[in-house]
Amino acid sequence: METHCYLCHSPSAEEKQGRIAPPMVAIKARYIDKEGYNKAEFIENVKAFVAHPTKEKALMYGAVKKHGLMPKQVFPEGSVEKIATFMFDYQI
Ligand code: HEC
Repeated sequence: METHCYLCHSPSAEEKQGRIAPPMVAIKARYIDKEGYNKAEFIENVKAFVAHPTKEKALMYGAVKKHGLMPKQVFPEGSVEKIATFMFDYQI
């Protein structure tokens, strides 16, 4: 997550210091607290979004408006699933 995601989803940088995406805690809150996703749903939805980000799939409407849609990127095989599992299981 540090290598692949924190470049944009930095947990500490303020927006004015260059953070260009919502912090992962905010994504977690949106997906789990608001949508009520369980672990399998959370992982599935994060994977689906990262594999092919679209406005239809995006739930972080404010972030999409402010920063634009997350660019489609290629991450090493299996890494997004591991990252999503980590995000779900641990307090980040
Ligand atoms: C090049 C910058 C960049 C990188 C690197 C990046 N993201 Fe994003 N991401 C964004 C931006 C910008 C948004 C907010 C706009 C949006 O939701 O599309 C976002 C939003 C998201 C969302 C919420 C989507 C929604 O709106 O429901 C998820 C989930 C996500 N990113 C996962 C990841 C994961 C996992 C990684 C690392 C494997 C990652 N991102 C790496 C820029 C990035």
